Amino acid sequence: MKILVTGGAGYIGSHTCVELLNAGHEVIVLDNLSNSSEKSLDRVREIAGKDLVFYKGDIRDRACLEKIFSQDGIDAVIHFAGLKAVGESVEKPWEYYENNIAGTLTLVDVMRQNGCKNIIFSSSSTVYGTPEEIPVTEQTPKGTCTNPYGWTKSMLEQILSDIQKADPQWNVILLRYFNPIGAHPSGKIGENPNGIPNNLMPYITQVAVGKLEKLGVFGDDYDTPDGTGVRDYIHVVDLAIGHVAALRKVQENAGLKVYNLGTGVGYSVLDIVKNFEEATGQKIPYEIKPRRAGDIAANYADASLAKEEMGWEAQFGIREMCADSWRWQSNNPNGYE
Ligand code: NAD
Ligand code: WQD
Repeated sequence: MKILVTGGAGYIGSHTCVELLNAGHEVIVLDNLSNSSEKSLDRVREIAGKDLVFYKGDIRDRACLEKIFSQDGIDAVIHFAGLKAVGESVEKPWEYYENNIAGTLTLVDVMRQNGCKNIIFSSSSTVYGTPEEIPVTEQTPKGTCTNPYGWTKSMLEQILSDIQKADPQWNVILLRYFNPIGAHPSGKIGENPNGIPNNLMPYITQVAVGKLEKLGVFGDDYDTPDGTGVRDYIHVVDLAIGHVAALRKVQENAGLKVYNLGTGVGYSVLDIVKNFEEATGQKIPYEIKPRRAGDIAANYADASLAKEEMGWEAQFGIREMCADSWRWQSNNPNGYE
């Protein structure tokens, strides 16, 4: 199939481009490079040994989208483009709603005008808010988000679902990612955050590479086995392969589908530190800090629906996630610079 990948130069997008090319799809990337480098796409070409087409442009730019759709005859869109920093979204809510929601509305309008009604959307476990029970299934009610970023995901799920209900020709696959970490095993592509990382794994790898002094562990008094927060970390390559599986649902005309993409296993912050140290031989000094506002104690997925319906299941374990994150960081201490 001919796939438009919005946000394809980013962390999850670049890994997904590799898997799409490996699976024999044609790939067209649209990215405004607001949080990425075009160099990631050269690395994608190198890893896959195949070419892709790149448009530097914005999903809010209707003329740019029209040009792509009129020239390329896109079969489906995998829609990663969006702003994703939780803390920044609290400071800049307008920018988040405008980029993520207005951008998606423009994209979807140009899609339908060009007869392309297949979209796979990057949603997040954040839509569950503070779940009453874990593991969460797709039936677990959506909750109250603690930040505008989370609301953009929750609202876009609603918008895309309503569009599909009104016009059943649409195939809308909502993928709720848990915590993506890791990098391509080649060490050529990976996560490249701007400034001091907000997320756990890039913080740890920057401590290991000597850019940061020590990890702050946000709270050790949660109701979890060791008191630190528990999450469902998933290897980014597994996540990428999940998108190739979701394309098969599109080809089956599955309509509206929602899938959790996680491993089903929860690890605490201290489990991650220990596994990282054992997988890489790097020592990670840490200190306990106060809880971070908006954090929940624990969350992990019941990912059995994705297995039943898409035949997809995570393959990589926590050691591989740690080793691959480290290989990327140590080979590229300054990211793509
Ligand atoms: P990322 O920032 O690396 O990738 C997003 C890409 O979108 C970037 O390359 C950025 O330049 C591009 N972009 C942003 N706004 C754009 C616009 N208006 N027009 C064109 N391009 C634009 O982030 P990621 O971690 O790869 O996340 C990809 C998607 O998955 C995002 O929608 C994110 O919200 C979602 N998601 C991420 C996580 C995570 O922990 N990384 C978890 C759940 C969901
Ligand atoms: C993981 C655990 C922290 C950093 C976020 C978004 C979510 C989704 C994934 C996009 C928590 C602890 C972290 C640090 C720490 N993104 N931690 N010290 O918060 O589960 O999810 O990314 O959709 O929406 O909210 O991920 O990696 O920030 O934190 O102790 O320096 O690590 O408290 O328990 P989170 P995270």
